[in-house]
Amino acid sequence: MGQETLKQTAAAAALEYTLNKLDYDSYLGVGTGSTCDIFIDLLASHKSKIAGTVASSERTAQRLRSHGIPVYELNTVDEMQLYVDGADEVNPHLELIKGGGGALTREKIIAAAASEFVCIADDSKRVGHLGNFPLPVEVIPMARSYVAKMIIKLGGEPVYRQNIITDNGNVILDVHKLYPIEVARTLEEKLNNITGVVCNGLFANRPADTVLLATLQGIETLTAN
Ligand code: 5RP
Repeated sequence: MGQETLKQTAAAAALEYTLNKLDYDSYLGVGTGSTCDIFIDLLASHKSKIAGTVASSERTAQRLRSHGIPVYELNTVDEMQLYVDGADEVNPHLELIKGGGGALTREKIIAAAASEFVCIADDSKRVGHLGNFPLPVEVIPMARSYVAKMIIKLGGEPVYRQNIITDNGNVILDVHKLYPIEVARTLEEKLNNITGVVCNGLFANRPADTVLLATLQGIETLTAN
């Protein structure tokens, strides 16, 4: 079974989870990436079962709208019961690295605002320690060089993601050489404290509540201890 099939399995499990949890007046946060794209396509046939969605990127908003699924601004939604999103790495504490698709800031805002955060991923995303996947850091453009120097002081090797401007008008540094990240919460805070950093792709202070991990044996449901 290839990675693509596993992503479909994860997306199908997320749809089932969503339909069990949400009802007609519920709002659903929807993440960004290829696994979420599949989830959105599956959600299309069930769009009348929820009140609407909040999108974590322009890309996701466009895909949702292309299926006629209502998309609302986060500011207009009182309560968002559930957020479904993918990840680049997942550790045993359900801490994540996200942002491979560049949508980390809006993703983190929605994860913070949602009552429950369900992460969907194929088994290749499971790691013992985070940090092999280069950690995305969204940066105000004029601060790029300053932030890069500060990240080097923290032991990372930042690489400017060329030709990418985020939905918020910023740039991304992908930070290599951080493996193994021992205390993800602390690194998340240190990076956030660098002036000019908008957000970083460590989801440790707000980890996932549940991970639906697609394996060759089927879905493994991981929950926070
Ligand atoms: C986008 C993300 C994605 O969730 C992450 O990159 C996983 O993507 P995919 O489902 O394509 O493997 O964080 O910013």
